[in-house]
Amino acid sequence: MATPWVRTLAIGCILSYILAVEAALNCRDITIPVSASALNFDFPATLNLTKLVSGTFHIDGTYCEPSKAVASRRNTLQILSHGITYDRKYWSGTQFNTSIYSWVQYAANEGYPTLALDRLCYGTSSHPNGVLVCQEPMNAEIMHQILQKARRGQIAGRSFEKIVYVGHSLGSLIGNVLAQIYPADVDSYILTGFTPFLAIGGFEFILALAPLPSILIDPVRFPTPDLAYLIATSPSGAQGTLYYGDYDPAVAAQDYATRGTYPLGEIATVPLGQLPALGYTNSVLVMNGEHDQVFCTRVPTDPLVGYRGNCGEGEGSYTAQTRLLFPNVKAFEFENVEETGHDVDYHRTAQEAFAVAHGSLSRQGF
Ligand SMILES: *[C@@H]1O[C@H](CO)[C@@H](O)[C@H](O)[C@H]1NC(C)=O
Ligand SMILES: *[C@@H]1O[C@H](CO)[C@@H](O)[C@H](O)[C@H]1NC(C)=O
Repeated sequence: MATPWVRTLAIGCILSYILAVEAALNCRDITIPVSASALNFDFPATLNLTKLVSGTFHIDGTYCEPSKAVASRRNTLQILSHGITYDRKYWSGTQFNTSIYSWVQYAANEGYPTLALDRLCYGTSSHPNGVLVCQEPMNAEIMHQILQKARRGQIAGRSFEKIVYVGHSLGSLIGNVLAQIYPADVDSYILTGFTPFLAIGGFEFILALAPLPSILIDPVRFPTPDLAYLIATSPSGAQGTLYYGDYDPAVAAQDYATRGTYPLGEIATVPLGQLPALGYTNSVLVMNGEHDQVFCTRVPTDPLVGYRGNCGEGEGSYTAQTRLLFPNVKAFEFENVEETGHDVDYHRTAQEAFAVAHGSLSRQGF
């Protein structure tokens, strides 16, 4: 076993001790080496539309054991895949109040192990070229590698039989790409902050964040010199597009203060994450804040009012229409969480949302 891994494990043990004291969770930080190749887009466009891009990277994550033993869930791993402008911490809520905002803690109490990842180009994972390498196809290929390792027993020292992929926003788009190209990888998807409709809200979102290269804004926190790594510079724009209704403004402010960067290449390849995954036949739950400002903006009948999105009601809702992307699944469920915006995990309704997600898993036999 390589020394860096041992070192990471040692650091992980110390961190997990701190986490354990704080949240009564048994967690450790891990580093997963991956080599992947992907048919990424070629920017700026040469005559070829796509280009095979390869690399060797490290992906960092936090693995947590369940805090309650449920035999049937012991070997079902929840992979947690964050959105913009986050990293793996999105799922633990440790900077806020974990008894309200921690998906990880909720899942642990339900008997599920979790692995929250800093996806490629985020957090402490590798930061390769932000345009040519940091694209959705590459992130989906890396996810494929990691899921293979989890099934083979190369993560957290034991093998997992079932994988539940939990995504938020861009993490959900990558889940959709994964379902298109590797339909057998995942046993159940929980996609939050996600619909097939992004044209209006996505554009609004990018503008509202007022992104600038992070090296120009905070070179101490973000030393990567690549100008394609962006950071939001508008607190009101970020709050207005991520939060709505029943939330704590102190949480939104703290969220902004600790926001991360995101790469231009992922933004440019967003449309790839909203295509039909014809080969995927397991189950899907799509869950959105009913006022999701990014994926549920409607025009011209329901124009933006102070960034309020409207996912709609019932079978006609944008959330329900996500079924179009998964036409061959054995079970499709959807939920719009009341008084909630895009960041489902960070509203006061979070516990309700976590209960919906885990209730759905339970109904699917997990
Ligand atoms: C297009 O792709 C092919 C195969 O990958 C490669 O041989 C060729 O050099 C590329 N052309 C350009 C203009 O990049
Ligand atoms: C966290 O939230 C719980 C549930 O609302 C509350 O009882 C507790 O006092 C909160 N803790 C802190 C430190 O605010």
